[in-house]
Amino acid sequence: MRHFLTLRDFTKEEILDILKLAANIKKELKKGITIPYLEGKSLAMIFEKSSTRTRVSFEVGIYQLGGIGLFLSKNDLQLGRGEPMKDTARVISRMCDMVMIRTYDQADIEEFAKFSHVPVINGLTDRFHPVQLMADYMTMMEYGKDKDPVVAYVGDGNNMANSWLMLASKLGFELRIATPSGYEPDSEVVAQAMEFAKESGAEIVFCNDPAEAVKNADVVTTDTWISMGQEEEKEKRIADFKGFMVDEELFSLAKKDAIFLHCLPAYRGYEVSEELFEKHSKEIFDEAENRLHAQKGIMVWLDRERS
Ligand code: CP
Ligand code: NVA
Repeated sequence: MRHFLTLRDFTKEEILDILKLAANIKKELKKGITIPYLEGKSLAMIFEKSSTRTRVSFEVGIYQLGGIGLFLSKNDLQLGRGEPMKDTARVISRMCDMVMIRTYDQADIEEFAKFSHVPVINGLTDRFHPVQLMADYMTMMEYGKDKDPVVAYVGDGNNMANSWLMLASKLGFELRIATPSGYEPDSEVVAQAMEFAKESGAEIVFCNDPAEAVKNADVVTTDTWISMGQEEEKEKRIADFKGFMVDEELFSLAKKDAIFLHCLPAYRGYEVSEELFEKHSKEIFDEAENRLHAQKGIMVWLDRERS
């Protein structure tokens, strides 16, 4: 049985297989065909943090696949009153066929998976957001940006930056990460990515200059400067990220036909300008929609791996 906790656990071939499956399911849906690949199955969705896209895409996704999704907010579960993760895992996984969790500590989701009898999917932790990256790469494929692309990530070295590191180092493309000094991605994740890069041929570059990262890039991406749980650091972060907004001027350094991606929610006037965001809204909202399709691919793939 496989879980989907981080892209670290997947080969390039597996990532591309899941995306191929996702693209087929998307194509079927666009033709009005909904095949109940997961008929009668249930997906528990545990949320310790807010969500718009992850909740809606998983709930609609499992429904379209013929199953049912259960939205479980931490505060409504005994988990919120101190019931251990491992007990919650042993109960829910006896009743449900798959579990998606959005939480803070990656260790909590690893613990849940250890005790779960069914596949567990990471719907975002402080460390990784792997389902988002599947949608992002699916969007890159649709825009023809999957042939030796150069991806520039500008901003916070957070769960999104860590996840880009895993994706690039597994698939073997060039990733340039520009962060303010002191906001670099997790050093353990960087070390792992550098190891994977040796094998895949990925080129990974770190710098503190957004212009250096964006120059001639095929894809430019960013994320909020204040992730969920960091609200108290807001003022300091806004000061420290000065000069890291992706705006028209910075984006003009990328290739002429470059695309802009944002996992959303976007904070205009901070990590991205209103003008640039609206100019690239087509690819941004294609990316958001692809959360639905990519995750359907992940769920069907995980279910197949069980049988
Ligand atoms: N990008 C993303 O995961 O969005 P939500 O927080 O709305 O789920
Ligand atoms: N880095 C952001 C991503 C939101 C989808 C956060 O963790 O809040």
